[in-house]
Amino acid sequence: MGPFWRSVPLALHLPAHGRGRALAPDLRRLLRQPPGRWDLPELPGFGGPLEPEGTVAEAQRRAAALLGAERCWFGVNGASGLLQAALLALSRPGSRVLLPRNLHRSLLHGCVLGGLEPLLFDLSSDPLTGLWHPPKPRRLERVLAAVAADGGPPPAALVLVDPTYQGLAADLPALVALAHRAGLPVLVDQAHGGGEALAAGADLVVLSVQKSGTGLAQSAALLAQGERVAPAAIERALLWLQTSSPSALLLASAAAAIEHGASTAGRRQRQRAVVRAGRLRRRLEGQGLPLVANGDPLRLVLATAPLGINGLEADTWLLERGVIAELPEPGALTFCLGLNPPRDVEWRLPRQLEALRRALGGPPLPPFAPPPLPLLAAPELPIGVAWRSPAEAIPLEAAAGRVAAAPICPYPPGIPLLVPGERIDPARAGWLLEQQRLWPGQIADTVSVVAGS
Ligand SMILES: Cc1ncc(COP(=O)(O)O)c(C=O)c1O
Repeated sequence: MGPFWRSVPLALHLPAHGRGRALAPDLRRLLRQPPGRWDLPELPGFGGPLEPEGTVAEAQRRAAALLGAERCWFGVNGASGLLQAALLALSRPGSRVLLPRNLHRSLLHGCVLGGLEPLLFDLSSDPLTGLWHPPKPRRLERVLAAVAADGGPPPAALVLVDPTYQGLAADLPALVALAHRAGLPVLVDQAHGGGEALAAGADLVVLSVQKSGTGLAQSAALLAQGERVAPAAIERALLWLQTSSPSALLLASAAAAIEHGASTAGRRQRQRAVVRAGRLRRRLEGQGLPLVANGDPLRLVLATAPLGINGLEADTWLLERGVIAELPEPGALTFCLGLNPPRDVEWRLPRQLEALRRALGGPPLPPFAPPPLPLLAAPELPIGVAWRSPAEAIPLEAAAGRVAAAPICPYPPGIPLLVPGERIDPARAGWLLEQQRLWPGQIADTVSVVAGS
């Protein structure tokens, strides 16, 4: 066995319950029961996410009230499944949907399922780390003006990702107000947030309760408020996409995590984690390690590029030494401390990051070039058509001029760098080649293009 297994790993990845240390107490109690006791079908009195009465319905009503929503539906296929249901609730086949370039791939899959046209808007990015910035209101204003001017039908909705995986947050109230003024309902992907988008006025919000709460992987919640989206449309879309045998364990996980997060014990737990995270952050900054300023105190984002290190290489190096980060990217490495950070993180992480800098550090990496994308663009071929078309794999070097038949999408974070149906112009082809160098092992030498395109 390699050195990785010789010591207990320093696990700084999701789920945020930290390998069980911070599990919601009700969930912990449930899991102590004999195996399988909790694996129940939709029994009378228990019900399911789409039943108006029963234990699940009551838990959903309580969760909605606690988070400030009018309605809540639990999901058992992650934020992915609920984002797709939300998209299908918002739009009819053939509609356009306004999506940011930092979208999670599940939204793209939702466009395929719903026969929707993604209208992708560009975001600025940080040249030091390559990370996407959340959109500023001025940018959204320009995007909405471009949409209004393009002569197409109005989009069915605007989708925003907030906060980002790295904990970067936008001025949501301003963005939502702009969209509403333009007549667009707003869906916020808060897979990494706690439902704050509701107070900002969002119509639909999707949470992944394992990413910023204390639930199990795959448990998620869809929250709704206001008159712009009919609950019946949401329930219809959930019916289309959800299993008819939702896991009682995952439903209990969503309920328990949301209730715990809003309880005094849950708030104290978070506060304790935030205090410890603050100490750790100050210590790392005291060592001169560059951390990205973000809005989530429990996500530490090391800017590796200024240290001369690619985040994916840093991740491999740390993994070999028992430190498991959450999200490696070319210019940064994100650590998720979770709601009960590991006991030894405060001395072990500073030591390991210092050793990383000494071992791999050098002059800062060159600035990251922004992707050569227009402010607003729709794929030239419908995404579902392109993705199902006869395709050929050609070297990336030869991709200029061809139409993509499959996405290029490093995972994590699952943000597509190329969307099926997009024509790859020479600037994009050059940028993709550069991305291949920056994401070692994550981007193939060949790209799938529509045959004859
Ligand atoms: C921004 C964002 N949205 C949605 C998802 C999907 O969440 P899940 O894995 O719960 O399906 C992810 C997963 O990483 C994500 O980063």
